[in-house]
Amino acid sequence: MTEPKRIAVTGAAGQICYSMLFRIAAGDIYGPDQPVTLQLLEITPALDLLNAVKMELDDCAFPLLHDVVCTDDPKVALQGVDAALFVGAKPRGPGMERSDLIADNGKIFSSLGKILNEVGSPDCKVVVVGNPANTNAFILKANAPNIDPRNITALTRLDHNRAASQLAAKAGAKVADVNRMIIWGNHSTTQVPDVSHATIGGKPALDRVDAGWAIDEFVPMIATRGAAVIKARGSSSAASAANGTIDHMATWIQGTQGGDWTSMAVTSDGSYGIEEGLVYSFPVRCKGGDWEIVQGLDVSDAIGEKMKTSERELVDERDTVKDLLPS
Ligand code: NAD
Ligand code: LMR
Repeated sequence: MTEPKRIAVTGAAGQICYSMLFRIAAGDIYGPDQPVTLQLLEITPALDLLNAVKMELDDCAFPLLHDVVCTDDPKVALQGVDAALFVGAKPRGPGMERSDLIADNGKIFSSLGKILNEVGSPDCKVVVVGNPANTNAFILKANAPNIDPRNITALTRLDHNRAASQLAAKAGAKVADVNRMIIWGNHSTTQVPDVSHATIGGKPALDRVDAGWAIDEFVPMIATRGAAVIKARGSSSAASAANGTIDHMATWIQGTQGGDWTSMAVTSDGSYGIEEGLVYSFPVRCKGGDWEIVQGLDVSDAIGEKMKTSERELVDERDTVKDLLPS
């Protein structure tokens, strides 16, 4: 039998995970031939609820689900995993910015980063979902020097999917025909959803939608979609965040297809003039379990200015959390 892949998931009794764990157990990250073991982490008061989630996982009799470990000990959850999905963190409520969560959530990522450094495998693939996701990933990376920094990423695939869906709706097209969407920057209201290189059915999206709409309406609509969901449902996105996280991991592991790309927040190597080391969302191609930033794209002045604003916000967030970064 193929050796199971071990996947750690934090915040496993929370909203996002209730939509996510069942799909991972069904094979949505590693594919239909790869068994998985789930190593689920929660804080102690949520362990009863986590055990209830395990009961339901058991009751699904997923053929690919090899084992489920429920624990409040991060060393047990993160031990030797192939992938780690860091979801556990406070969500924002109405009227808050994601960066308002830094003080509470940043500490979770410095402490889990140190433990991942100790017990994690160096090539473990990490996605940070808990907000503010880019800066939490930066904190985790700084506290986990044994883990290859290329393997520490943050989620902007939800924004990417939102952008593809809204572009398709505006153009009267099918979302399946939309390719080469880009989210640049921070998973925040400064993010830069960019349709300049997007295609619909292989032709430029800008032949189908107005360039003014793409900057003046589309950018703020996608950048504030998380807040719109919070307003509409009273709590933050859960099923779509779970779907974005699964898409992020599945694309990273299984590859981008047919000349398409995706958006991932990864450690900047200085591409497009973005400060090296920041965790910044770029268009990436994935192949063989690795990613590369798509190079050589033309960036208009309007988009470039917004990219700089998002970069500055990440620099400011980094300054705010300097106490959580080892010197
Ligand atoms: P939730 O409150 O329903 O669940 C969070 C869970 O994390 C809780 O069960 C809590 O007990 C657990 N937790 C808290 N501290 C923990 C720790 N130190 N270790 C392990 N578990 C811990 O929240 P949710 O709706 O699942 O959202 C989780 C996070 O994801 C929030 O920060 C939210 O803002 C963020 N989010 C990000 C995106 C994105 O696109 N990046 C999208 C949606 C939500
Ligand atoms: C989202 O984009 O839906 C999440 O980041 C949740 C939020 O706080 O907006």
